[in-house]
Amino acid sequence: MTIKTEIAQTIVDPRAYADRDRLDAAFTELRHNAPFDIAEPEGFDPFWVASRHADVLEIERRADVFHNAARSATLTDKAGDAFVQFVTGGERNLIRSLVQVDGQEHKDLRALTFPAFTPKALKVLEEQIREIAREFVADMLAKGPEVDFASEVAFLYPLRVVMRVLGVPQEDEPFMLKLTQELFGPNDPDMNREKKEVPPEQVMQLMQQTMLDLEGYFGEVTKKFRANPEACINSLIANAKIGDDYLTHRQMMGYYIIAATAGHDTTANTTAAAMWALAENPDVLAKLKADPSAMQGFIEETIRWASPVKHFMRTAIVDAEVGGKPVKAGDWIMLSYHSANRDEDVFEAPFEFRIDRPIHKHVAFGSGPHVCLGQHLARMEMRILWEELLPKIDTVALAGTPKLTQSSFVSGPKSVPIRFTLAN
Ligand code: HEM
Repeated sequence: MTIKTEIAQTIVDPRAYADRDRLDAAFTELRHNAPFDIAEPEGFDPFWVASRHADVLEIERRADVFHNAARSATLTDKAGDAFVQFVTGGERNLIRSLVQVDGQEHKDLRALTFPAFTPKALKVLEEQIREIAREFVADMLAKGPEVDFASEVAFLYPLRVVMRVLGVPQEDEPFMLKLTQELFGPNDPDMNREKKEVPPEQVMQLMQQTMLDLEGYFGEVTKKFRANPEACINSLIANAKIGDDYLTHRQMMGYYIIAATAGHDTTANTTAAAMWALAENPDVLAKLKADPSAMQGFIEETIRWASPVKHFMRTAIVDAEVGGKPVKAGDWIMLSYHSANRDEDVFEAPFEFRIDRPIHKHVAFGSGPHVCLGQHLARMEMRILWEELLPKIDTVALAGTPKLTQSSFVSGPKSVPIRFTLAN
């Protein structure tokens, strides 16, 4: 069966991601009436949509059958796909990072930095991260009682943390932020480099320009860290070898770019969404202040609630079956994390923000061999920020209407105006 045209158009429309009721209505209808079916929106190759939790997990687990690199790993229209093949000489992805490789190459590349992202390895950073959190909290309290929490705190704090972990100097942060937002929000006039609505056929060109800027920057980073290695992720990447050889130019650039971009907009969107939820649920703020052991449930619920990575795509490399439907070799599949995290079969009252859900089953970090490499860092930095901030405020309320980014890939609140009162 084919998904209704109107729904198919909605799930590819970046503007729908800035209008949660519209998006949720579309995915709820899919989960109920067409949980694994084919969408044929105009301008795109047809693709299956996995909207249920169970199907998303199954496809991620069967990584030998459902590959990341065979076609674009993120939703791309036909014009974008043609452009990528033109500039890469036939590949289906503009970059070749961990996300766009499979099998042994993925294992080898992931093993290079995996040890640096374990909870144990990250523990040594706890105090440094807490220092950063304290600076942002002090700054916010000084600016109050009204701030735009998204742009003044949520988007800057994770950036500083990730850049510290990577070894990027503080003065380069605005440049990295700009390029990440251009890469993740090319359809959003506030985010892309033209600062206006651009026609779909131009989106990939803009992303290619952003990529060239990033490559120029990271070329210098490689020289610097090969000459003088340091204890940071970028130095690990610059000096990493598989067998006797350094990474290829494309592998190395992909690695720098995924490490620099995957970690902050995702965490930033989650942090901004969390503050929005706190402003709308004063009982949650009171509970967290009274009982710090509620923090873990809060963090996990904010990640489910925000689901900042809306989807990734997979491609079947052999014929297979999913949810009782036959999938053919070459078929393209959207994994909707946003929808899976609202699956009524797994989450009671999924549209309620509940910090006391018994077991956290969200798939916001994905699953299987590609599961988010930075998940422990994300959890830790968010916990530290709330530990530093919540004891210092008494109440928080919205001081305007929050605004969401227009993006079907990584999106969330770009503006969360709040008014707060200080704790005594
Ligand atoms: C709340 C914050 C975050 C969310 C929701 C998130 C979500 C995700 C998702 C959904 C994936 C794809 C998983 C899959 O295909 O199964 C992913 C991959 C990845 N994430 Fe995160 N992420 C977050 C924070 C971070 C941070 C802080 C970093 C570290 C710098 C990071 C680095 C990565 C990398 C390198 C990958 C690629 C892993 C691979 O393909 O092997 N992420 N993330």
